[in-house]
Amino acid sequence: MAEALRIGIAGLGTVGASVLRVLTETAVELKRQCGRDLVVTAVSARDRSRDRAVPLGAAEWFDDPVELARQADIDVFVELIGGAEGAAHDSVKAALEAGRHVVTGNKALLSRHGVALAEIAERKGVLLNYEAAVAGGIPVIKTMRESLAGNSITRVFGILNGTCNYILTRMEAEGLSFDACLKDAQRLGYAEADPTFDIEGQDTAHKLSILTSIAFGTRIAPDDIYMEGISNISQADIRAAAELGYRIKLLGVAQKTDSGIEQRVHPTMVPTASVIAQVHGVTNAVAIETDILGELLLSGPGAGGNATASAVVGDIADIAKSRPGFQHGPVFGRPAKELKPYKKARMRSHAGGYFIRLTVYDRIGVFAAIAKRMADNEISLESIVQHADGLDSSDSKTVILVTHETTEAAVRKAVDGITKDGHLIDKPQVIRIERAD
Ligand code: HSE
Repeated sequence: MAEALRIGIAGLGTVGASVLRVLTETAVELKRQCGRDLVVTAVSARDRSRDRAVPLGAAEWFDDPVELARQADIDVFVELIGGAEGAAHDSVKAALEAGRHVVTGNKALLSRHGVALAEIAERKGVLLNYEAAVAGGIPVIKTMRESLAGNSITRVFGILNGTCNYILTRMEAEGLSFDACLKDAQRLGYAEADPTFDIEGQDTAHKLSILTSIAFGTRIAPDDIYMEGISNISQADIRAAAELGYRIKLLGVAQKTDSGIEQRVHPTMVPTASVIAQVHGVTNAVAIETDILGELLLSGPGAGGNATASAVVGDIADIAKSRPGFQHGPVFGRPAKELKPYKKARMRSHAGGYFIRLTVYDRIGVFAAIAKRMADNEISLESIVQHADGLDSSDSKTVILVTHETTEAAVRKAVDGITKDGHLIDKPQVIRIERAD
């Protein structure tokens, strides 16, 4: 039997503790699957005295994760510290340079430094595995990198943030406030240390940038993502969406268009009957459209200690099964040096349907003026209704428009025009509609 795989873990928060527990509890089965023992021989965390309710066994303690990465007697370095810079980046880089395999769940790190780190891993002939970085426990990286070889991907989109989906689901189902739902998500351990990363779309953007690179063979482009979060989604939007046959989801979408690649993160209306609209709570889902296979939808737990630990342990097991001298596949599906430059499509060229909610003065001519601005910008309307909203007063009314396919530029011009006309009482709300089956 092969020698034991020696594992060093840096970061013993919710995920790190879950990984330790799973490795301990499933040790016998993992040995059967991998043909060798998987042993944690070194650990590092900020606070040595904290009770983590998991045994650290005989693992050597390191105060400094970089020292662990460089000096510990390990085969695999597992980074669960988090953050794009500092200890996470320094330790992963040090581990790869020292010729150790790395497993990480750190989407911020990969989004920012993934290509450079992949170049080191590929040069050193070691694995850099990161299944946990995107959509928690869903094996989407493996699916895209391995199972879909030979397919050409045209669009990948999904619910990539459990916290946002949890909030939107509860707001819709229970009529609860945004703040109350966010507090529960934090209590349950779904949210990032800084929850603005979840609700303003940053976390989804990090994950999307990684999927885009694998889907289209391009260098990761975290700064070229259009981003809107969910903090301005109100009960009025959720109710209007339901009446029109839609549900609001925070989606990350990467799509090939004639002018380049669109990467966008924003609240999105999806048809209530579509499969992705049935994804509730903390569950994530990723839809992948390809030329050969058609559409594939993967869904499963996307946040929390167990979901993430499942992916991390799977990545460690893959390393345990690999053999010295075996040529590993490239980290992002193509050799890092051969990833193409990213060509960004302008958001103003985005084509699709739009939901527009306007709070207007209740006076003659307003409806006509709105319709004229739409016509002037060649926007064809699917529906325009004066909505009987509970928030309406005797002086104000809600007007809801749904457009046929048009462009972002046309909608922005039309809405700017309506704002200038002076009929609006409140900020206009614009939500994009995404095609989904
Ligand atoms: N905060 C993230 C989420 C955790 O809510 O999905 C997983 O990245």
